[in-house]
Amino acid sequence: MSVDLIIKNIGKLATMRGKSPFIGKAMDDIEIIENAYVAVKDGKFYEIGIGNDYNHLIDAHTIIDDAKGKLVTPGLIDAHTHLVHGGSRENEFAKKITGVPYLDILKSGGGILSTVKATKSASFEQLYDKARKSLDRMLEFGVTTVESKSGYGLELDTEVKQLKVANKLGKDHPISLIHTFLGAHAIPLEYKEDPDKFVDIIINDMMPKVKELELAEFCDVFCEDSVFNINQTRKIFKKAKELGYKLKIHADEIVSLGGAELSAEVECVSADHLMAASDEGIRLMSQKNVVANILPATSFNLNKEYANVRKMIDTNLAVSLSSDYNPGSCPSENLQFVMQLGCLGLKMTPNEVLSAVTINAACAIDRQDCIGSIDIGKDADLVIFDSPNVEYLMYHFGINHTYRVYKCGELVV
Ligand code: NIG
Ligand code: FE
Repeated sequence: MSVDLIIKNIGKLATMRGKSPFIGKAMDDIEIIENAYVAVKDGKFYEIGIGNDYNHLIDAHTIIDDAKGKLVTPGLIDAHTHLVHGGSRENEFAKKITGVPYLDILKSGGGILSTVKATKSASFEQLYDKARKSLDRMLEFGVTTVESKSGYGLELDTEVKQLKVANKLGKDHPISLIHTFLGAHAIPLEYKEDPDKFVDIIINDMMPKVKELELAEFCDVFCEDSVFNINQTRKIFKKAKELGYKLKIHADEIVSLGGAELSAEVECVSADHLMAASDEGIRLMSQKNVVANILPATSFNLNKEYANVRKMIDTNLAVSLSSDYNPGSCPSENLQFVMQLGCLGLKMTPNEVLSAVTINAACAIDRQDCIGSIDIGKDADLVIFDSPNVEYLMYHFGINHTYRVYKCGELVV
């Protein structure tokens, strides 16, 4: 019996196996195997061993790669992005840094609504090329799976265009994509006086069509003050469940509205942001196993308080970290910077951060059975970091530590 690939001479192998998700103290208590090798067959992990004990697995066709004593982790997972969009918003940057609030820019027709205009007027090819460039960057940072949301159309045709671009990229690019419909991302100006009418259009026109076209697995809502309120969000989720979508929510990002509580009530797979989540909301989420997907680069960029992750971990919530890559609140594809903010901003330990961008992020997109850890039978997605240990990844910040990336056993970086 021979394998396709051996990665030998791994200084430290962070397998992230054992539980999915890691909660509480388990987030810090990860398995590190020293002087390890990993064997891959048919794109899946086949064996994990120590030293040079792999001779029984090789023949003339086996590729042997030398990790040169470096750190190996599972491929990183970015479980929250707004990958496909037109244009950029550096014109709002000056306003933002002088302190004009994010929601005020949105209320005046800027923010998300200005990206909606740019996305509507962009062609399929323009959106595809721009998003492809972002995916290339993410891959360079060691990201092998990305969740991608629509939400810059706010009408059926443009939402479908965005989702079709993402679905095509999922087939063309080495990164695997998970698709989310976020028609409820902002209230278009023409429905400002009657937002419930827009909610009805989302429910009756957009959600069934997107499902029929099989373009999205998840449905998400930006539940926020002056965007979608709790009752509107609940109504959208009720219909989403009937149609067979899994649920995600932008919850309690700026104002404490009760989004965390709602995520537990409707059993979302993840609730994201949570900077203003209540203690009760956090408790209810942990009871219902909702993953808390925290986006610290957004806090950093909006100059807001960080989410209270220490409390979440103490409450036995499964915490994941993602980029929230988008043209407004987080114009950066760099998940390694997010990891560094996990330590520097959220006060997580390096091991907790690694749990949060691997196995726990897999749970945030319901892919824990096939990715997120280096374990026999899972997809052979891994990163060799030019780093001697996990701590060094977070300590030496602002640079790219990637040495090599494998996706399903293929060398892609
Ligand atoms: O997750 N909060 C809502 N949506 C994005 C921002 C999108 C934008 O500003 O374009 C977020 O932060
Ligand atoms: Fe977002």
